[in-house]
Amino acid sequence: MSPSGLCVRALGRGRALRPRVLLLQPHRPHGAPGPQLMLASSPALVQRLSRDVELRPGFVSPAEEAALLQELEPRLKRQRYQHDHWDQAIHGYREIEKLQWSEQNAAILQRLRDIAFPPGVPQLSMVHVLDLEKTGFINPHVDSVKFCGDTIAGLCLLSGSVMRLLSEDNSGDRVDLLLQRRCAYILRGAARYQFSHQILKEEESFFGGQKVLRNRRISVICRNLPVSPVAATG
Ligand code: OGA
Ligand code: MN
Repeated sequence: MSPSGLCVRALGRGRALRPRVLLLQPHRPHGAPGPQLMLASSPALVQRLSRDVELRPGFVSPAEEAALLQELEPRLKRQRYQHDHWDQAIHGYREIEKLQWSEQNAAILQRLRDIAFPPGVPQLSMVHVLDLEKTGFINPHVDSVKFCGDTIAGLCLLSGSVMRLLSEDNSGDRVDLLLQRRCAYILRGAARYQFSHQILKEEESFFGGQKVLRNRRISVICRNLPVSPVAATG
């Protein structure tokens, strides 16, 4: 089992509460109005997570998505989708870790790393690639502090999806993130440690009452190294 893959997932608790407030805005460097991409259960929660959740719709162009897929597909296709026992973190998936990338794709990943990690932050050099089939999903979990630092940065390819964050401490605190096809997302700090994250299954894939169609979805995830030796023993 790989450090940046399955090992990073320790199951969190799942809850089913309806979101009530539509609030948080995506990252908009020029202040242009954008669609709502985050749904939070309270305004206070939006405040609390405003610096710890970042969404960048359209981070990857269609041509870049195709280039990434072209490099990934041959390796992914060597595996079958796995369907683990019902209590596992993830269902209907295959995954790889990848170190070497084409020049074009390395540049895309560098762009992701540049927005996610301040200069000098030690990062996992291996990139984690997770391929969820149409019916695949990820149960609530918190990435293991043994293998992953304070920041998780992902690209979402091929399909939109809904990522749900659930507070580990307050059962009512919940945020839904609309992860559009070709977006980038970043979870850090409280969003990474104090909330579980999950990718909703096809039949539950709604965002504010709107169906978010699920298809095969590939995520490409960069992480930093555990923050301190104390975290690494946790
Ligand atoms: C994980 C995970 C999210 C994603 O692999 O631990 O949470 O976007 N993946 O695929
Ligand atoms: Mn995770």
